[in-house]
Amino acid sequence: MVSRVIPAQPFDLVIFGGTGDLARRKILPALFRRFCAGQMDPQARVIGAARGDLDDAGYRDFARAAIGEFDDDVCCAAEHLDAFLGQLSYVTLDARGDEGWGALSALLDGADRIRAFYFSVGPGLFGDLATRIEAHGLATPDARVVVEKPFGRDLASARALNAELARHFDETQIYRIDHYLGKETVQNLMAIRFANTLFEPLWNSQYVDHIQITVAESGGVGTRGGYYDKAGAMRDMMQNHIMQLLCLTAMEPPAKYDPHAVRDEKLKVIRALSPAQLGDVVRGQYEGTDSLPSYRGEVEDQDSTTESFVAVKARIGNWRWAGTPFYLRTGKRLRARASEIAVVFKDAPHSIFGSDAGRHRNILTIRLQPNEGIEMGVTIKEPGPGGMRLIDVPLDMTFSEALGPDADLVPDAYERLIMDVIRGDQTLFMRGDEVEAAWEWTDPIIDAWEASNTPPCPYATGSAGPDDALALMHRDGRRWREIKP
Ligand code: BG6
Repeated sequence: MVSRVIPAQPFDLVIFGGTGDLARRKILPALFRRFCAGQMDPQARVIGAARGDLDDAGYRDFARAAIGEFDDDVCCAAEHLDAFLGQLSYVTLDARGDEGWGALSALLDGADRIRAFYFSVGPGLFGDLATRIEAHGLATPDARVVVEKPFGRDLASARALNAELARHFDETQIYRIDHYLGKETVQNLMAIRFANTLFEPLWNSQYVDHIQITVAESGGVGTRGGYYDKAGAMRDMMQNHIMQLLCLTAMEPPAKYDPHAVRDEKLKVIRALSPAQLGDVVRGQYEGTDSLPSYRGEVEDQDSTTESFVAVKARIGNWRWAGTPFYLRTGKRLRARASEIAVVFKDAPHSIFGSDAGRHRNILTIRLQPNEGIEMGVTIKEPGPGGMRLIDVPLDMTFSEALGPDADLVPDAYERLIMDVIRGDQTLFMRGDEVEAAWEWTDPIIDAWEASNTPPCPYATGSAGPDDALALMHRDGRRWREIKP
């Protein structure tokens, strides 16, 4: 057990969709790791709720199997597992009917503790669940609801969802998850920017030539084709995860690290985004190989025009960033699973070493995954005789090396976020107005694609995306950074 962890107060966490994929892969393993870390009070209860006919013992077997399959963390020793499972129970429940609600009320009744409802279900059920939680008197004043993405599929549906939730809960009770905000390096981005004096004076268009944000995946859509084909990379990744990375990179320093101040600043960034021109957006769809199916081979619709890749040149119309473009890209079946934010600084104003010295630029790279860390590219003299030749070398801080054994203590995004829900800290969750503003920016792009009726550009599996995405930067005299593991 880790001593520096502050135990959370006792809580009841109800997971609607408790036998679903997210519960299996992420929520239950994350809770188990927090249990092992000593953060979950022995009185805390996790209640799985779903339609399937299970009893407590059946749910514990389900959780045991899930943890066995998805928790590869050695620190979570098997000896804790039985104790953890003892804190789990299950209710068979119908989100759209009355079945199970009496049993859930009886379970929760009288317990004076933090109460959280995790909506690990499709957005179509959010309203039904919220209505029944309220109707059964389960919505205590400080009860929390956690909702997963996708939060709508456009501005209109996101507004409707927000209105539906607002009928039953106050905004301070609603936790909209974007798991990228729970990633350690993403939070580190704020630490780097706002806890060091070094970077902030340079963090503007006077010194920064451009910024690249890449979230590249090597896997395809796999078994999620049904969902993904209706979403595409713009809705699945750009509107939420990449938008959040963009906000944290570009925002003004908040007055303090609290939910209002941080989210106010992020919202200002989204509102300052200039509408994207169609020529500044490229979408692509992966082709197959001898051994791997193409995108169309993985989804039901053989003629699908859904994009599995998108690249955008975004512009932020404010004093800090006018003239500094943000190039954003994400896609599946790319060369590697590699995500990073690269801040590319401008050339030195004058080279005293002459034109032979070549072009050298400082690049600050924040690596999200894999090998989380920060790298600062600096230019130095190449060692040895023969005049002043310059080379670029990385000042590399890979967290696992810099932090030693402590790096193992870094919680997974879901661990962090679930505990923030229990603690009542909304800083790393999206506020309703933020989500709507993000849709407001992405909707016109999606509408224009639909109206133009042009298919996405094909790209080879294992490549860096379609040629048009490369051209998006080449025409500005810039180039994408290499996607490497
Ligand atoms: C999810 C998307 O939100 O994020 C997936 O729906 C994507 O399509 C995943 O693969 C990427 O998350 P991570 O943490 O693996 O980078």
